[in-house]
Amino acid sequence: MVFELKSIYKDYMQGKEAVPVLKDITMSVDEGEYVAIMGPSGSGKSTLMNIIGCLDKQTKGFFIFDKTDVMSCSDKELSEIRNNKIGFVFQNFNLLPRQSALENVELPLLYAGVPKKERKERAIAALKRVGLEDRMYFKPTQLSGGQKQRVAIARAIVNKPRLLLADEPTGALDTKSGDQVMELFKELNDEGVTVVMITHEPDIAKCAKRVMYIRDGQLHDGAFNTRAAGADQPAAASETAAEAAPASGTEEAAEA
Ligand SMILES: Nc1ncnc2c1ncn2[C@@H]1O[C@H](COP(=O)(O)OP(=O)(O)OP(=O)(O)O)[C@@H](O)[C@H]1O
Ligand SMILES: [Mg+2]
Repeated sequence: MVFELKSIYKDYMQGKEAVPVLKDITMSVDEGEYVAIMGPSGSGKSTLMNIIGCLDKQTKGFFIFDKTDVMSCSDKELSEIRNNKIGFVFQNFNLLPRQSALENVELPLLYAGVPKKERKERAIAALKRVGLEDRMYFKPTQLSGGQKQRVAIARAIVNKPRLLLADEPTGALDTKSGDQVMELFKELNDEGVTVVMITHEPDIAKCAKRVMYIRDGQLHDGAFNTRAAGADQPAAASETAAEAAPASGTEEAAEA
């Protein structure tokens, strides 16, 4: 088990009033899974991702990440979980603009206290893994959108995280670059990396082995059959979800 959410609620305070955003979310993700979370704008996807990514805490309910009760963690412990166990990929890449691709990818290793020489070797291996070793001294402004996202993926996997967590990873990309990113996610998942990806695009969600649908803060497990074209109405737990999520691969992210 990588993480488990049990009856998670999240309210945001609007003045004195609590606005419920997540309502009774229960889900778990095992090693080697590839899960897409879909839902319309404002349904609570990013709010859920912030909780799974240990960037924010739930209002109520249990959240266990890699055997740790996240609610009881200090801010320092939370940042350690984020640095060591989660690789983040965002819609807008979030690369440091003045640093080279190599320096961006080295960053999580710098935070983790990895010595300089090993940092460089591992960052180069991760950039090779995403096919960008020939661009390692380029700055983000000298890279295309798809290349920037591949640098961000190299940065996300360089620390061999327990979970690769992506929020709309193809949202800012053209179709071809988006497909390349999806191909990379598939390869990484085949190598044993656990992936959770948020998207509102059905074509992108199809790349995952299991799809969950969130609407108005509530989760509908397997309510979206990825293999049946256009089947976007809620259905009973889809077989696609069950059959396509083998609890395989315990290896961590491979960099090379
Ligand atoms: N910091 C905040 N304070 C108050 N309300 C918030 C805050 N963050 C999000 N919300 C509200 O929570 C709801 C869900 O927002 P969230 O960002 O999770 O949606 P989303 O599904 O990611 O949407 P999108 O597809 O547009 O990114 C929205 O109604 C939003 O207004
Ligand atoms: Mg969002």
